[in-house]
Amino acid sequence: VSRPFTAGERAMLVDSRGRRYLVNLRLDGQFHTHSGVVDHRTLIDRPEGSEVRSSSGARFVALRPTLAETVLKMPRGAQVIYPKDLAAMLMVADVGVGSRVLEAGVGSGALSMALLQSGARVVGYEVREDFARTARANVASFLGDEVHYCVEERDIYDGITESGMDSVMLDLPEPWRVLAHAEGALRPGGILVSYLPTINQVSQLRSRLDASRFAMAETLEVLHRTWHVTERSVRPDHRMVAHTGFITHARLLDEP
Ligand SMILES: C[S@@+](CC[C@H](N)C(=O)[O-])C[C@H]1O[C@@H](n2cnc3c(N)ncnc32)[C@H](O)[C@@H]1O
Repeated sequence: VSRPFTAGERAMLVDSRGRRYLVNLRLDGQFHTHSGVVDHRTLIDRPEGSEVRSSSGARFVALRPTLAETVLKMPRGAQVIYPKDLAAMLMVADVGVGSRVLEAGVGSGALSMALLQSGARVVGYEVREDFARTARANVASFLGDEVHYCVEERDIYDGITESGMDSVMLDLPEPWRVLAHAEGALRPGGILVSYLPTINQVSQLRSRLDASRFAMAETLEVLHRTWHVTERSVRPDHRMVAHTGFITHARLLDEP
C-alpha cells in the first residue's frame, strides 16, 4: 500500500553516493549533514521515492528503511546479528505466522524484529535490563505495539518456563547450558537454533547435542559477496564481511 510520509515515522535519506541516514520525522525537525540542511517538512506528505534537496542543493532520495537497513543503523546495546544470517536463521527454524519462539539473549532486538516481522510470537530472555529496554524500544519503533512480544529480564541458564514452543533461538556464549531446558520447552519436532562466533564453541555445542534428545544437527555459515556491476566492468566487490557467525540447528526427538 502506498502511503505518504507522516510526522512521527522513520524515513531513510540516501545521498548521491549511496550513503544512508535514518531520520525520525518531526514537523519542526531538521536533518543536518555536511552537505546542508533538509527540513523534515519537505518530506512530510510526499510519497516514498521522492527526491528532496538540502539547503545547499544536495539531492537525497527518501524511502522507508527495510528491516535489514534498520537493523544495521538502529541504536545498539549488543552486537546485532547480520541480516544475511537473520534470513538463514528464519529459514532453518521454519518460522512463520503464529510460530511460538523462545529467544535468548535478546540483545538489541535484531533477531526479535526478524521473527516478529515473519509473524512469530516471541518470548525473549535477556539478562541485562538496559539491553532488554533497547530491544523493546527498537521493536516498537519498527513494528509498533501490535506484535506479540514479551522480553523477560532473566538468565536462560537457570531454566525456561515456557513449553510447547516451536523453536528456541539462542545468541549467547554457552548454548550447551540451555540444551536440557530447551528439551523441556520445545514440542517434539521443535527446532533449536544457535548462533555462535567461533568454531570452538560450535564444536562444544555439537558434542553436547550428540548426547541429547536433539538430532539432525547441522552447522552452516552464510557468505554474502556483492558484485561491482557497470557497463565496462563486472566483478566481485573487493570488500566483503568475511566472517560473522556459525548457525547450528537441530530437531528435538520424542525419545532419546
Ligand atoms: C550478541 S547479543 C544478542 C544480539 C541479538 N541476537 C540481536 O540480534 O540483537 C547476546 C546477548 O545475550 C545476553 N545473554 C548472555 N547470556 C545470557 C543468559 N544466560 N540469559 C539471557 N541472556 C543472556 C547478553 O546480555 C546479550 O545481550
